[in-house]
Amino acid sequence: DAGHYDNGGYEHYLLKEISEQPDTVARTLRGRIDDRFHIAHLGGLNMDAREIRSFRRVKIIGCGSAYYSGQMGAQLIEELARIPADAEPASEFRYRSPVVEPDTLYVAISQSGETYDTLVAVQELKRKGGRVLGIVNTVGSAIARETDGGIYLHAGPEVSVASTKAFTSTAVAFALLALHLGRVRDLSPADGRRICEGLRRLPEQIKEILTLEDRIRELAKKYADSPGMMFVGRVRGYPVAREGAQKLKEISYVHAEAYPASELKHGPLALISPELPTVAIVPDDELLDKNLTTLGEIRARHGRILMVGHRTSEAADDCIVVPKNEVELDPILLTIPLQLFAYHAAVALGRDVDRPRNLAKSVTVE
Ligand code: G6P
Repeated sequence: DAGHYDNGGYEHYLLKEISEQPDTVARTLRGRIDDRFHIAHLGGLNMDAREIRSFRRVKIIGCGSAYYSGQMGAQLIEELARIPADAEPASEFRYRSPVVEPDTLYVAISQSGETYDTLVAVQELKRKGGRVLGIVNTVGSAIARETDGGIYLHAGPEVSVASTKAFTSTAVAFALLALHLGRVRDLSPADGRRICEGLRRLPEQIKEILTLEDRIRELAKKYADSPGMMFVGRVRGYPVAREGAQKLKEISYVHAEAYPASELKHGPLALISPELPTVAIVPDDELLDKNLTTLGEIRARHGRILMVGHRTSEAADDCIVVPKNEVELDPILLTIPLQLFAYHAAVALGRDVDRPRNLAKSVTVE
């Protein structure tokens, strides 16, 4: 209940929670980076090196934003630990009688630790002998108790219905988990060091992104009266696009759809017009040229483009430029301007930002 926590002088809990992220990310990292061996200390996992080497697959489950953070996590685990990983909504997973494999590591994500669909999925996994870790914010919650071990976020209470600081902290927890799994398996010390140093830079870089708020507010006002928005990203950028669309629709009620940029030409390009602006996630990575080509295709159909990335481009109408980290960690930073964008769109449209209609902070019933 929002009444129990101080809004810290912010107009909305959501803005408070967005603004807290330099601190909450630092809290998720605290005591967990080893600068000598370039490894992560995750004592709560209760897994030894032998067990870690035995996993052949990682399956991540969660609902809503937790699921999208899981998609980001799967990407991190595949890249850094080279274990095939994917995420699925816990709500779907529990109903399809999943095959539970002994050499799969299951990871359940939940801010509240009380989401019913996620909890039931964990219980089903346990019943079938699955090894389940939890990435949870609320200490002692039902999912934290049911899992075999895990990582607490330490992000503090999240009050606003739309998840922000729990999302970024979950992604950071996944980076730590991926580093840990990777360093026990085949990630080199040099890459381990690169990731450790990148993780340490995150809080300061988030602070820098928060200074872009005035500009993002103006952009949100400019785009908020659109009947809908398209969010696109490729590979690492795709979970960012999905979470950006989720934030916008939950709190501003503007219809938003997220697509892999590569899939535009297989259908949704038909929707592109001046009435449907696109938010394009365009990090400076090996897919930059491909992404810029996509912008050209949208442009040719007279679609307006707001590009979020590490540089400006003539191909876009507007650009939000964020600080660059390591390519694997950039998605975490790219998420933050989209939170501010959704927040200011919702404010501009006069929405009930902290308590959007029809939604609950945690869905503890079927
Ligand atoms: C609800 C909230 C979402 C949240 C989801 C999962 O649907 O409205 O914002 O992402 O539950 O919540 P959890 O507490 O399990 O992360």
